[in-house]
Amino acid sequence: MTVPIAIIGTGIAGLSAAQALFSAGHAVHLFDKSRGSGGRMSSKRSDAGSLDMGAQYFTARDRRFVAVVNHWQANGWVEQWKPSLYNYHGGRLSPSPDEQVRWVGSPGMSTITRAMLDDLPVTFSCRITEVFRGSRHWSLQDAEGKTHGPFSHVIIATPAPQATTLLAGAPKLASVVAGVKMDPTWAVALAFSTPLDTPLQGCFVQDSPLDWLACNRSKPGREGQLDTWVLHATSTWSREHVDMPKEQVIEHLHGAFAELISCAMPAPVFSLAHRWLYARPSGTHEWGALSDADLGIYVCGDWCLSGRVEGAWLSGQQAANRLIEHLAR
Ligand code: FAD
Ligand code: NAI
Repeated sequence: MTVPIAIIGTGIAGLSAAQALFSAGHAVHLFDKSRGSGGRMSSKRSDAGSLDMGAQYFTARDRRFVAVVNHWQANGWVEQWKPSLYNYHGGRLSPSPDEQVRWVGSPGMSTITRAMLDDLPVTFSCRITEVFRGSRHWSLQDAEGKTHGPFSHVIIATPAPQATTLLAGAPKLASVVAGVKMDPTWAVALAFSTPLDTPLQGCFVQDSPLDWLACNRSKPGREGQLDTWVLHATSTWSREHVDMPKEQVIEHLHGAFAELISCAMPAPVFSLAHRWLYARPSGTHEWGALSDADLGIYVCGDWCLSGRVEGAWLSGQQAANRLIEHLAR
């Protein structure tokens, strides 16, 4: 019997590792506490249509990631987003066009991870609480007390604070990962029945509780929805208001939006708030991935590299490649 490799997390990092291992002929089994894949780059279905509450778009700078994004584009999973970009600084809104190529999943961010997952074996709605090693193999325990296994190796592809709790069986790795802090981001979506009278489709914001806002509907594949907007608060504001009730967060960020956009703003017909507790790493690292290859445990995620979609994908590749190289020795 082939003993599979367990991968905890079906964000882009976990799926990148899964694809690399599967292509190299290894059996994998994925787990995620959510009901679907994507993690921080998933889109949320709502009464106002599909909303990108986490990752807004991504850029591709590393040639390996450029190649994979070209493949995604050829398959129709991603399209370029060419927003009319603005910058808000010192109380002034000004156009800020550039030449950067920006990609989005189409018709939603979740398209990408759903396509990557394809028919790989996965267990959703399963929060892993413990990763432990028997005499030869690894097992996982979930929040309902069920044990999964045996597994030959384990790849943990979650934000660092969630990975730390799963690393009791690898104390050296646990102490490195425990040192990685991640900041929260409050995200709010608003929908208007009459489109806002503004040419702005995306805006980098300074000197405000907000650090980004985008017209969700301006992205390819989201046309025909209500006039939907996604607002992201800064890490500082999100940290200071981390426990604020959602209705108040909506009120504050809606107010900040109304203040910076120079057009009349009707009352939204729909609003939604989502708190990303571990949105982005507080500092930068160039680890690629972390591992205790002799034990057979690997850790990856955006926080091992750039804290962006590209970094998460590259980190998943690195974890898989290290595992494959170790097996080849
Ligand atoms: P995640 O996507 O967090 O995946 C981890 C998965 O593990 C999740 O699905 C989670 O449910 C699961 N999990 C966690 N713990 C357990 C457990 N115990 N058991 C089972 N499953 C578990 N990047 C960009 O490049 N461009 C952007 O515009 C951008 N904007 C962003 C805006 C926001 C608000 C946020 C939050 C992030 C943004 N990012 C952006 C960052 C980008 O989303 C991440 O870098 C990337 O998606 C991280 O992927 P990952 O696989 O490392 O982690
Ligand atoms: P990018 O190259 O578009 O943006 C990088 C940064 O450059 C921006 O944050 C912005 O400060 C600046 N910038 C880029 N184009 C600009 C323009 N036309 N006008 C004014 N400023 C401009 O994309 P990249 O490097 O792929 O970064 C991804 C984005 O994801 C960043 O904006 C980052 O802040 C955001 N992000 C947000 C997270 C959150 O939790 N809110 C988590 C991780 C990433």
